[in-house]
Amino acid sequence: MTYAMEVVYLFSSILFIMGLKGLSHPETARRGMHMAELGMLFAIIGTLVGKEIVTWEWIIAGIAIGSAIGAAMAIFMPMTAMPQRIALSHAFGALAAVLVGVNEYIEKGHLGELSNGLMSAIGFEVLFGALTVTGSLMAFAKLNEMIKGAPITYKGQNIVNITLFFVTLGMFAYLIFFPYDYVTFYWMIGLSFLIGIFIVLPIGGADMPVVISLMNSYAGLAAAATGFAIDNKVLIIAGSLDGSSGFILSIIMSKAMNRSFTNVLFGAVGSPQVDTAALAEQRPISRFSIEDTKFVLEQAERVVVVPGYGMAVAQAQHTVRELSDALEQRGIRVEFAIHPVAGRMPGHMNVLLAEANVSYDQLLEMEVINPTMDTVDVCIVIGANDVVNPAARSDKGSPIYGMPIINVDKAKTVIVMKRSMATGFAGIENPLFYEPNTKMLFGDAKHVMQELVAEFKKV
Ligand code: TAP
Repeated sequence: MTYAMEVVYLFSSILFIMGLKGLSHPETARRGMHMAELGMLFAIIGTLVGKEIVTWEWIIAGIAIGSAIGAAMAIFMPMTAMPQRIALSHAFGALAAVLVGVNEYIEKGHLGELSNGLMSAIGFEVLFGALTVTGSLMAFAKLNEMIKGAPITYKGQNIVNITLFFVTLGMFAYLIFFPYDYVTFYWMIGLSFLIGIFIVLPIGGADMPVVISLMNSYAGLAAAATGFAIDNKVLIIAGSLDGSSGFILSIIMSKAMNRSFTNVLFGAVGSPQVDTAALAEQRPISRFSIEDTKFVLEQAERVVVVPGYGMAVAQAQHTVRELSDALEQRGIRVEFAIHPVAGRMPGHMNVLLAEANVSYDQLLEMEVINPTMDTVDVCIVIGANDVVNPAARSDKGSPIYGMPIINVDKAKTVIVMKRSMATGFAGIENPLFYEPNTKMLFGDAKHVMQELVAEFKKV
């Protein structure tokens, strides 16, 4: 039976690794996801046929409750709330790790089998698990605007956080040598819950994606430690994959926003509260109508579409694809420029455009498109703002200074499609809107795109 279980776990681990590999490209992402799901199914089967850890009733009850909650979240939470949803999932995953850890501690404690090695695994598991639970809930609350998204700071904050962390770490070290000190064990968990709250408080809403993927990494590490504690190999492998991929993603995202890791975690910046009314300039802007837009597009040879958060909110991706088809039918080359943090989660634009059946060859990453931007005839910015803000290149005082952007301002004509002159996520003014080659096309992304497509259908 154990042999069968190990074989099933091996299959499961291979599927997880192949799934992760598949997720690295939009074309194979769906297949990768299915492989990972199959891997999870194998892992559950392995657990069921293997040791008698749990009874069938508990597993079935768990699957039923978990599936009901998961389905409700998938159905009712909009795509734009995906980061919050992910944060909640991490909180649940980490809570499971904490509960397993506490159970293992109590059980092995009663049997007098708490070795130093086992205590290290349990301690690591509950410490990382607990801080991930509250950290993820804080990220959820900030993104869901249940608490202030801006950094919440006070004097000496970093010192308090570091002290708290080292005290907790000290308790952990102590427990490795004196594992039967129950009071210290529960204090350690309590303090870890507090650390989770305290470390996320000073981080601004704009940096939440990095926090979420870091929490993903912590939840993975907690799961790997659980694997050591209960001697479950698939949990060790899956947890390590989760831990390392989350960490790599955090680094990639920090780079995309031109922020160092320490700056994100200790900088207490991000999502600055800017008085947008005071910023609203009286400088003239140039407006375009649907007819103007159609006229300019028809003259172009190369058009680049830059999608952003507004396209996601309006669910305009299908109509955008229709526009792209209409242009291509007229022999105009159409490409999509994808900024790594456009929208509200990694890969947000890729997912939406793939859903609308935009060909993968048309999707170009920022690094690829930028050097050729001055040869683009028309750039249509659809609901993007921060990721095309030239202040990131030129204004040293700007909170987004240094963040790589898509250089749409270098195109011959830029058409910016949004509802108003409002700012984007970072809450800062965008000088692009006042450039002489920029034309503002106001309205809801979906409605405007529908009107534009209808205009192209007219003979
Ligand atoms: P944003 O800077 O947030 O700008 C989106 C723009 O879309 C807004 O200015 C808004 O202007 C417009 N908009 C909203 N609803 C619309 C609608 N129905 N139709 C047309 N336009 C609409 O978006 P972005 O350029 O994609 O930049 C993303 C920002 O989010 C960055 O600051 C990034 O750091 C941050 N962030 C990214 C992530 C990841 S990982 N992707 C996660 C969290 C935060 P109007 O109100 O005038 O229409």
